[in-house]
Amino acid sequence: MPGRVRLRATFGDPGRYGFVTSRCARPDTMERMDSRLRIAPADLDDLGWIAGIYHHYVRTSPATFEVEPRTDATWRAWFDGFGGRGRYRLLVARDGERVLGYASSSTYRPRAAYASSVETSVYIDAGSTGHGVGSGLLGALLIELATEDVHRACAGIALPNPASVRLHEEFGYRHVGTFTEQGRKFGRYWDVAWFERAFPDRSAEEAS
Ligand SMILES: CC(C)(COP(=O)(O)OP(=O)(O)OC[C@H]1O[C@@H](n2cnc3c(N)ncnc32)[C@H](O)[C@@H]1OP(=O)(O)O)[C@@H](O)C(=O)NCCC(=O)NCCS
Repeated sequence: MPGRVRLRATFGDPGRYGFVTSRCARPDTMERMDSRLRIAPADLDDLGWIAGIYHHYVRTSPATFEVEPRTDATWRAWFDGFGGRGRYRLLVARDGERVLGYASSSTYRPRAAYASSVETSVYIDAGSTGHGVGSGLLGALLIELATEDVHRACAGIALPNPASVRLHEEFGYRHVGTFTEQGRKFGRYWDVAWFERAFPDRSAEEAS
């Protein structure tokens, strides 16, 4: 994508995530985007921003198969499912007070033996896509998950979505298959490509 702002996540001090810093800026966009985006665990105060980002895609895109905005109570229950440690994480990218995107890891399927697999998800504010924010968030999330008892991260991508396919491939996800016409939204069916990313086996460590 020629000329786009390319951002690179760095994960040193301060804190575990550090900053997403500009690598090669296009000046007009840099003025709008700012050059320093902070990636951090989400706070409750971020939930309104997160809902705004996600509801845009609920209304306009097959990227999510939800078709109605979530209630505040549903959002709160969703938020409470994440923690500062463990498999289920919620990270945001902030530009000052503004949240430009989020990445999460959630239960893949509820049955107990699936617990070592998580489903990851990334949503970027519609006006901020294509500038490396998704890469910074997914990179940070995977760094965190690598320290947890997670063996596989899975992601389902409704097709077509070249940005999401590229993003996941860039971070080591492998296409394992495509379900045809797995969802129906906007009066048509959508195929879903499933991707998985492997982590080292931590079962011996966890057992000891
Ligand atoms: C998909 C999404 C998360 C990607 O995040 P992003 O910040 O826009 O992506 P990045 O700028 O970090 O780019 C990631 C990679 O995708 C590529 N890419 C970005 N936009 C692209 C596009 N429209 N077409 C093709 N490739 C694209 C980038 O070039 C980059 O690859 P590279 O490192 O090889 O150059 C974001 O666009 C988004 O939120 N989209 C709408 C919601 C959605 O689809 N979420 C995912 C559901 S599975």
